[in-house]
Amino acid sequence: MEKKPIRIAVTGAAGQIGYALLFRIAKGDITGTNQPIILQLLEIPSSQQALKGVVMELEDCAFPLLSDIIVTDDPSVAFQDANMVIMVGARPRSKGMERKDLLLANAEIFKIQGSALNQCVARDAKILVVGNPANTNALIAMTSAPDLDRNNFSAMIRLDHNRALSILAKKIGSPISQISQLIVWGNHSPTMYADYRFALNSDQPLAYNLQDENWNTEVFIPTVAQRGTAIIEARGVSSAASAANAIIDHMRDWVMGSNGRWVSMALPSDGSYGVPEGIFFGVPAICENGVIKRVANLEINEFSKRKLQSSVDELMGERKLILSML
Ligand code: NAD
Ligand code: LMR
Repeated sequence: MEKKPIRIAVTGAAGQIGYALLFRIAKGDITGTNQPIILQLLEIPSSQQALKGVVMELEDCAFPLLSDIIVTDDPSVAFQDANMVIMVGARPRSKGMERKDLLLANAEIFKIQGSALNQCVARDAKILVVGNPANTNALIAMTSAPDLDRNNFSAMIRLDHNRALSILAKKIGSPISQISQLIVWGNHSPTMYADYRFALNSDQPLAYNLQDENWNTEVFIPTVAQRGTAIIEARGVSSAASAANAIIDHMRDWVMGSNGRWVSMALPSDGSYGVPEGIFFGVPAICENGVIKRVANLEINEFSKRKLQSSVDELMGERKLILSML
């Protein structure tokens, strides 16, 4: 007998990330090749025409797993009974817009969509926020959905994790598959902290053979942190295929398990590692049976403490700006 379809909602579905993401979801890259899928796509009214074209292309792929596609501009229709929600849609920064204006414009979107999540999604839905500023948007969505378990929410820092892996592998001349226990901490912003102190290369401590503190502080950490900006400068628009790939990695690991591997996920802080509650913060995690567990009790040295603190300060500042809306 065929399995019951799983409902996956995607917001901002007609955007560039949506275009790189939907086809991979429909192919089974998150849920496996044995799981039928219903896509529930949300877009604003002015992008409905473009979304119609994307849906035509999805149909033209004749994906065997894709049982239905729902298209709407109403969050409560898009989120109805959804088992997974990938929140990509957000207002981009326009000319002359301050970071504060962007925060406030998106706060409104994530507040409305958070309330819709509260009413409509499956109670165990896995929700990932990608639209920027992702950590604070996730906080707004979670706070606007008080009936849902806060552990249902996460924000994306996996793209930064993948970027860090790739840069590290190149530096030490090792295959990416051999590197584990890498972390990206903090905010998905230039204050993020890529940390290879615990990383292993073929199960051997990687930092032991890479005693190059100058490369770490002057090249590795800033290159990871500035990669999104470098891509915007090169392409004229922000990363899309690599962002979609990171969404797939994040959701697949959450649903199917990370097989003991550490992955970086931005989660509602629980006070550990000196990070105050009330913000979403990138931490190392292991996923098992659909549950995310933080990797606990790692040593935080003075340098790391300062790096973590700068993301904490930034996120507490963002929180302060949107607090009156919560
Ligand atoms: P895009 O502008 O191409 O697409 C965004 C889509 O969202 C548009 O089609 C727009 O119509 C839609 N949208 C806007 N408001 C909406 C709303 N209220 N409801 C539903 N849809 C809405 O942008 P993109 O390149 O696809 O990027 C999307 C977001 O992801 C941006 O905020 C970007 O900064 C962010 N991003 C995050 C990461 C990360 O690692 N966290 C990486 C890359 C991009
Ligand atoms: C990225 O990291 O590529 C994006 O978040 C950059 C951006 O500002 O959209």
